[in-house]
Amino acid sequence: MAEVLVPIELLTGVGEMDTQHDHLFHEMQKVKNALLAVSGDGTDGLPLLSGLAEDLVQHFMWEEEAARKHGIQFGEHAREHARIIAFVRTKIAEIDKGVCNIPALMVFMERKFESHVVHYDLMLGRALKDAASSRDAPSPAVRQQRADAA
Ligand SMILES: [Fe+2]
Ligand SMILES: [Fe+2]
Repeated sequence: MAEVLVPIELLTGVGEMDTQHDHLFHEMQKVKNALLAVSGDGTDGLPLLSGLAEDLVQHFMWEEEAARKHGIQFGEHAREHARIIAFVRTKIAEIDKGVCNIPALMVFMERKFESHVVHYDLMLGRALKDAASSRDAPSPAVRQQRADAA
């Protein structure tokens, strides 16, 4: 993947999460290109959008699992994930029936995911990094030993 599409202000600093976000941005770009093609009737965009929906589900599961492993509260974040998936599935059904509002879908592509990262994932990234640094920090007993040895 040559070009990084994640805007710099949306980088969480958690490598795996940023890589997954970048992959999703690339997929969204492909969906947009397919759906906005002049001859587009949704037939090219539909399988791409279905693939995006599947990858979103996988990505959201990864975030939920990462949060669970570190005891990070995730209730509202999980509800927002569910809303996004429901939205994408609604759009897939609309494209299928030929009644999709393409401009509304574009708004989602350009704004909704970015807004989700800003309002939820950046905070999750900070919590995951905090959890990792407190896990790597020496225990009080080890710190005392080091102080005694100095
Ligand atoms: Fe995310
Ligand atoms: Fe998320």
